[in-house]
Amino acid sequence: MLFWNKRQFVPEATEYFNPMTDSKVAIITGGNQGIGWYTVLHLYLHGFKIYMLARNEERALKAIEEIKVEAEKRVSKYDEAETRSRFFGSIHYIPCDLLDLKNVEKAAETIKKAEDHLDIIINNAGLMGCPFEMTKDNYEVQLQVNVVSHVLLTLSLLPLLVNSKAPRVVQVSSLGHNLATSFYENTNDLNKSPSSYYSMLRYGVAKTAAIHFTEVLAKKYPNILCVAVHPGVIATSLYDFVWSTNGFLGTISSWIFKVSGSIIAVSSEVGAYASLRAALDNTLTVDQNNGCFLTTGGVMSSASKVARNMDYAEKTWNWNITQLQERGFKLID
Ligand SMILES: NC(=O)c1ccc[n+]([C@@H]2O[C@H](COP(=O)([O-])OP(=O)(O)OC[C@H]3O[C@@H](n4cnc5c(N)ncnc54)[C@H](OP(=O)(O)O)[C@@H]3O)[C@@H](O)[C@H]2O)c1
Repeated sequence: MLFWNKRQFVPEATEYFNPMTDSKVAIITGGNQGIGWYTVLHLYLHGFKIYMLARNEERALKAIEEIKVEAEKRVSKYDEAETRSRFFGSIHYIPCDLLDLKNVEKAAETIKKAEDHLDIIINNAGLMGCPFEMTKDNYEVQLQVNVVSHVLLTLSLLPLLVNSKAPRVVQVSSLGHNLATSFYENTNDLNKSPSSYYSMLRYGVAKTAAIHFTEVLAKKYPNILCVAVHPGVIATSLYDFVWSTNGFLGTISSWIFKVSGSIIAVSSEVGAYASLRAALDNTLTVDQNNGCFLTTGGVMSSASKVARNMDYAEKTWNWNITQLQERGFKLID
């Protein structure tokens, strides 16, 4: 039904790794539900050692168990050659609440103690449309979860990334970045009325900043393949705030979503394909594709003009670095 169906990425067509000999290591934020869950499933099926950085132990461990059950179901459909050549990886939970920068730093330290290299970081966790709130680190809540914490996590793990032969950083952004039709300095907290509009504008600004971060990272570290993605429109709990905090408007939008969903929405698994292509597809190269933007199904696309503007991107980068340094974090810039 969807025009991109034919071009959508097929994770099964990419290389499978043997955890005993290949030692492929990936981390993902928020892999315990939604598109992250399927991203972890496919990496596990491909033989990766995956660190799931999640804020709730019970939800994370339950998800890990469920992913393993689903993986068993999938391999039962393998043919003989596939059964011989494919191996499960492993999944490890690391506590990490992105609303607490000290927690993010601690998670990065745990990984640095456990591994000497890191092949893939998938900055997947996100929040959308929340009412205005400042975190204890003094950032607007959507900005911290969608961007700032991922900046800290990624830059803290650079020493491990550069030890990988072909490192990749995947930033899950959103088509919603287009809501930021002009450049908003991150100092602007956008705490205005009507809140239903400004909460979504803050999401757009955060997801634009996430793309800016990816682009500057690609420029500064040309050997790390950095890709930003829009996963698609997927009915996940990401929409809970939009539907529950906006009264009548929220109810209407949830109905519109349910009706239009049958036309534009994709499953959570297809929603994972953009991240999976960014993580696994060997036809993407640092020379040709660094800083690129993939959309639903992993199809090559283009981010907004504001997101592609490198002067704005540098401003976003510098602001993030300065803010984190002012809070006492030592970063490699
Ligand atoms: N669904 C869509 O239509 C859509 C469209 C465009 C972009 N995206 C992006 O796709 C990504 C994944 O979203 P999804 O649709 O899969 O939504 P989801 O099912 O709500 O998953 C979001 C994930 O982020 C985690 N998370 C949220 N706040 C966190 C925090 N403070 N610390 C650690 N983890 C936190 C959640 O953990 P808990 O389970 O603990 O809450 C959950 O695992 C997000 O970045 C989102 O912006 C989604």
